Amino acid sequence: MFDIEFLDIPPLVSVSGKVNLPGSKSISNRVLLLAALCKGTTVVHDLLESDDTQVMLTALEQLGCTVERNTDNNTVAIEGLAGRPVRDKVHLFLGNAGTAMRPLTAALALLGGEFELSGVVRMHERPIGDLVDSLRQLGCPIDYLGNEGFPPLKLHARTTNQLLLNQPIRVRGDVSSQFLTALLMALPLVASRDIHIEVVGDLISTPYIEITLNLLARFGIHVQRDGWQRLTIPAGSKYTSPGSIHVEGDASSASYFIAAGALFDWSTDHKYFEINGLGTNSIQGDIRFVEAARLMGAHIECMPNALQVSPCKEKQAGQKPLTAIDLDCNHIPDAAMTLAVMALYAEGTTVLRNIASWRVKETDRLSAMACELRKLGAVVEEGPDYLKITPPSSPAEWTTAPICTYDDHRMAMCFSLAAFNPASLPIRILDPKCVGKTFPDYFETLFSLAQAKSASIPVICIDGPTASGKGTLSSAVAHHLGYHYLDSGALYRLAAFAASAQGIDLNDSAGVAKIARHLPVKFKDGKVWLNGQDVSLAIRTEESGMAASKVSAYPEVRAALLMLQRSFRALPGLVADGRDMGTVIFPDAELKIYLTASSVHRAQRRHKQLISKGNSATLQYIQQGLEARDERDMLRSSAPLKPAENAKLLDNSDVSIEKSVLKVLDWWQGTRPF
Ligand code: DC
Repeated sequence: MFDIEFLDIPPLVSVSGKVNLPGSKSISNRVLLLAALCKGTTVVHDLLESDDTQVMLTALEQLGCTVERNTDNNTVAIEGLAGRPVRDKVHLFLGNAGTAMRPLTAALALLGGEFELSGVVRMHERPIGDLVDSLRQLGCPIDYLGNEGFPPLKLHARTTNQLLLNQPIRVRGDVSSQFLTALLMALPLVASRDIHIEVVGDLISTPYIEITLNLLARFGIHVQRDGWQRLTIPAGSKYTSPGSIHVEGDASSASYFIAAGALFDWSTDHKYFEINGLGTNSIQGDIRFVEAARLMGAHIECMPNALQVSPCKEKQAGQKPLTAIDLDCNHIPDAAMTLAVMALYAEGTTVLRNIASWRVKETDRLSAMACELRKLGAVVEEGPDYLKITPPSSPAEWTTAPICTYDDHRMAMCFSLAAFNPASLPIRILDPKCVGKTFPDYFETLFSLAQAKSASIPVICIDGPTASGKGTLSSAVAHHLGYHYLDSGALYRLAAFAASAQGIDLNDSAGVAKIARHLPVKFKDGKVWLNGQDVSLAIRTEESGMAASKVSAYPEVRAALLMLQRSFRALPGLVADGRDMGTVIFPDAELKIYLTASSVHRAQRRHKQLISKGNSATLQYIQQGLEARDERDMLRSSAPLKPAENAKLLDNSDVSIEKSVLKVLDWWQGTRPF
């Protein structure tokens, strides 16, 4: 997950390959609660791992459920509560997970006991009053601890076991369908008689109720319904675990990839794009996003558990890839946000109607979406329950800006799609880690599927002499920006190390180059692996450094390592340190830094490092060694160490690492269009 302040996405060109979707959030959290309400163990396969499911799992454990994870086969086994929380007087913190707050409120109110339920500030702004009214009607004592109608809530123990089940339970259906879902999952716990639920107002987001009914049936509860106004839980209904249950891929998460697969011109590029884990067998309402995307021009083939996507092939080069639509989106409230961003790529004005529920989601999504789309050059009309989006009329009309995400995962994922813009502008997503709510690896997944022109993938080069602090500075900058990091010196060290290990004389330039050409190296978890062996420490000795300096003077060795170094230029960007990053390897880099420090300062730093590792070399010996290496690196004929023409000089002799990082980030910001 990108746990950084902002993520700059370079302009993207296309997507190809296969994506395995994370599990559905709606199904995951429902299944977890249903499993907890059963007797016995339910093994859940492919559960979504995200903030919202973690919130639910923690709550269930607090209530006394046993949860066992098996990472080998990606299962979670839930030992149910058999109708009674093991513990009460529990305070449950439910983050911003509506799919935990609403159903747990209903289930715990009916089960009885004392509980406090709270969440983040936004959760306390999301309505729950209609559900509380329904539960109070039944005789459950519930207090608001903050504002009337909103969490946090206090559930009190009931003084009587009697619930008022003889009259229909009325619940509003036109604010959030989660109120009805919550009652449907809770009431089977007390179904000693037929229980009737009456929906007041037109029920919104009915597909989510269908997911609830579908899953209830898997757990032995067969709800009868008469249209969407009246539903009955039959007397004697009893939760029964299905033993094991599989969570299908998240259809709302799929929408970003369906959109990505439809956004670009495939006339020149006939790669396939496949989305696995979701298909015609889906029970999620957002699978109908497929129909909406087709209306906009996407070609989507549906298989039972996979989708294949391609853009509208009839479009001519230069035409917008999609066509505008005017659509009632009540049935796909979450995925419809993706349509709003697809509208940027459509010919004409797109109108998304009947989406008032957006206002009470993770943020007021109607105004958030309107505000951010305008930043990109779209003309947007925000109605009380609709959005009208006219895209930029030509590439020149596109603009870019930092996109606010309002702690809303869908805002972040939706706006990543703006990176496919025809103006080839990068896009900045603020607070990208908010995707953790439902799809922690969203950006990593997108970057593994998306293609960008190599020249548009940013590179920051930090060159300089040995012990100037390049490594520390470069990895800190890379970490800050979420970029990859290349320690090119390690490759020369590895070449010398691997050659010596194979008995090759380091004077044999062709022999070393042959080894360098096929280095079986892997950088993983901060370690360097050669042929599966951890050599991180072995290549860091002074001797290794001298050997690297020697072999790095051979033009054949430098040529052998050229392509390997360039292959590190990958989405979303790279920070590379070495001697010739800015002069030879990435001459087109947007920012080049030449980092120096006096040989005394560098020797002192290296001395400190070596002493801490138990090495007793003297300061004077180290300084002489550094100067000898500087000389060799600077005087060699092939790619000598020298500042690139347009490099910024940074002497960090008396500058702290924190200040150096800020300086580099400041220079970097100066190159950005934001
Ligand atoms: O940065 P370092 O000390 O790990 O580098 C080891 C040697 O490798 C250094 O003395 C010179 C050489 N080198 C190089 O020639 N070109 C690079 N891009 C990086 C390192």
